[in-house]
Amino acid sequence: MADDWQMPEGELMKGKRGLVMGVANDKSIAWGIAKQLSLQGAELAFTYQGETLERRVRPLVESIGADFMVPADVTDDASMDAAFAALKDKWGKIDFLVHSIAFAGKEELQGSMVANTSREGFRRAMDISVYSFIDCSRRASELMTDGGSIIAMTYLGAERVVPSYNVMGVAKAGLEAATRYAARDLGPQGIRVNAISAGAMRTLSLAGIRGGKSLMGTGRDWSLLKEDTKMEGVAGCALYLLSPLGQSIAGEVIHVDAGFHVVGVPQLDE
Ligand SMILES: NC(=O)c1ccc[n+]([C@@H]2O[C@H](COP(=O)([O-])OP(=O)(O)OC[C@H]3O[C@@H](n4cnc5c(N)ncnc54)[C@H](O)[C@@H]3O)[C@@H](O)[C@H]2O)c1
Repeated sequence: MADDWQMPEGELMKGKRGLVMGVANDKSIAWGIAKQLSLQGAELAFTYQGETLERRVRPLVESIGADFMVPADVTDDASMDAAFAALKDKWGKIDFLVHSIAFAGKEELQGSMVANTSREGFRRAMDISVYSFIDCSRRASELMTDGGSIIAMTYLGAERVVPSYNVMGVAKAGLEAATRYAARDLGPQGIRVNAISAGAMRTLSLAGIRGGKSLMGTGRDWSLLKEDTKMEGVAGCALYLLSPLGQSIAGEVIHVDAGFHVVGVPQLDE
């Protein structure tokens, strides 16, 4: 996170506890969201993918005065059981969940989707990027005994064709549909489920996409605001959806991309 982080402090999340899944380093979208939630008084628990990441994530978690971190590999039921059991032991109930997890192999994230998508690559992308959201929503909702709010992270590649995004676009389309069905299933329990469609941002995940950096350049040059998507904007939208400000919003996909998604023909400088 840049040192020029300027998000408002306050008490919008005071008394609320939640789980953040998907911090890999200080550039992760999940970390930007966590930082903003913490500035608004939320108590946070974190999962991390494995030992290598623990070393990077622990100092971040400690920097905001949190201490609860458990490993969780979303492809491994035993690991998920253990993580949610630890969370239940610690707090009993939670108020929100941030799901900020996705994966597809490098071989899938280039060239032709038709040529490069293997059955195993497809299965893995859908398992980690879509099924995990369904699974986490079920597990988290069991702890949301007073209602709650769940968010997932998606991208425009779900709706439109983007170079190299390929099977991840297919997965994100599935994730957005899953968001709507989860919102239907959990709505009667007072649990709101929504997704944020962020513009391209410089994270580890973007680095895995062939030509990923050019997605950022195009996003900036074509966007209505003529600027990169800011972490502050994504984190602010997450705060809105996870706090009481977002009440009555369910099954929604909100674009936080400097207006890039509405452009048909770009207004380029002459
Ligand atoms: N960076 C972008 O341009 C962008 C834009 C829109 C949406 N998104 C989405 O935002 C989310 C977060 O990505 P990011 O850009 O912050 O990158 P990131 O690499 O920092 O985060 C991805 C996270 O997924 C986790 N993950 C992958 N496989 C896992 C597994 N098997 N078990 C548990 N965790 C696993 C990683 O550990 C990592 O923490 C993803 O859903 C991504 O698709 C990213």
